[in-house]
Amino acid sequence: MVANPLELHPYASLSDAECRQRIIAAKQALGDRVVILGHHYQRDEVFEHADFSGDSLKLSREAARSNAEYIVFCGVHFMAEVADILSRPDQVSILPDLSAGCSMADMADLPKVEQAWQELASVLDPDETITPVTYINSDANLKAFCGDHQGVVCTSTNAQKILEWSFAQREKVLFFPDQHLGRNTGVKMGIPLEQMVEWDFDKPMGGLTPDQIKQAKMILWKGFCSVHQMFRPVQIDNFRKEHPDGKVISHPECSYEVCQQSEYVGSTEYIIKTITESEPGTHWLVGTELNLVNRLHQQVKEQGKTVQFMSPTVCMCSTMFRIDPQHLAWVLENLVEDNVVNRIEVPEKVAKSARVALQRMLDISA
Ligand code: 13P
Ligand code: SF4
Repeated sequence: MVANPLELHPYASLSDAECRQRIIAAKQALGDRVVILGHHYQRDEVFEHADFSGDSLKLSREAARSNAEYIVFCGVHFMAEVADILSRPDQVSILPDLSAGCSMADMADLPKVEQAWQELASVLDPDETITPVTYINSDANLKAFCGDHQGVVCTSTNAQKILEWSFAQREKVLFFPDQHLGRNTGVKMGIPLEQMVEWDFDKPMGGLTPDQIKQAKMILWKGFCSVHQMFRPVQIDNFRKEHPDGKVISHPECSYEVCQQSEYVGSTEYIIKTITESEPGTHWLVGTELNLVNRLHQQVKEQGKTVQFMSPTVCMCSTMFRIDPQHLAWVLENLVEDNVVNRIEVPEKVAKSARVALQRMLDISA
């Protein structure tokens, strides 16, 4: 049953404290009928209610193994889609605010990827020579495209393993939508920068010549994350002046230059683990989303560690931030009344092919 979004009105005027009590009560009433998954970028007032927290890979595994009737995903749209695809048909995936998308995921869509595939076919046989790899930050129908073309999904945790598998299948990779994760992983694998070309999706033939395509090992979709592109090498230089013994850790969605100057590069889960397990008294500069960085700083400051955000300006993931305690209380209280609001349901035809690419990823990175 679809509820009228105007029902949100009474919730919008609730304070965070009131929502907190109501969320706890609704969770208690629902018991193990509901599981709340929370991505590391969620704000504290939402994150505290998560039964499981993690990066995209960890949360997709939790969704796949959950027995709960309702999977409430405090994250962004593509994550709730993955939960729907990997869960049983009788389980329901819910995104508390439907406007919580991912601007990077929006940079690639099926018509543009299909057009790229067709244009590449004028130079080589893509089905014989290219493995399509989509970052999990993408629409379900792009995962389905990969499933249908012997391709695969990757996350920031398993990108290298997935690329190794992909190159074992075919000589080239078309990687979308994030150029940076593709490039940073390729560099780690020893692929020269000149063999990684950018596919500009607004230009015919991606703005590339047939020779550039033939010589490329990786064709990188020109997408990026607006949050991670705020980080700059000069911010690292400034930190190093202040803390010559400090360490820099970045998410692979950051630029090549930032990743090259970081001691550590990895997923949100990796960043948290690395800093949590580091020596007491260490100083860290972190190139990833602000909510994660602030929470981590609070968690480790008693050990004399400092965790500093890379950018001097506030840059949160505004779509992750859309999930607030008001929306969470709203969806949970509706579930208590057996009313499903904000369900994310991927049509089975798309889900079937997307599941192939996702399952391939889970098997390769097991
Ligand atoms: P992780 O999989 O590392 O959590 O990254 C997800 C994401 O969207 C980072 O911007
Ligand atoms: Fe998407 Fe960037 Fe937000 Fe991650 S931080 S969900 S890539 S917009």
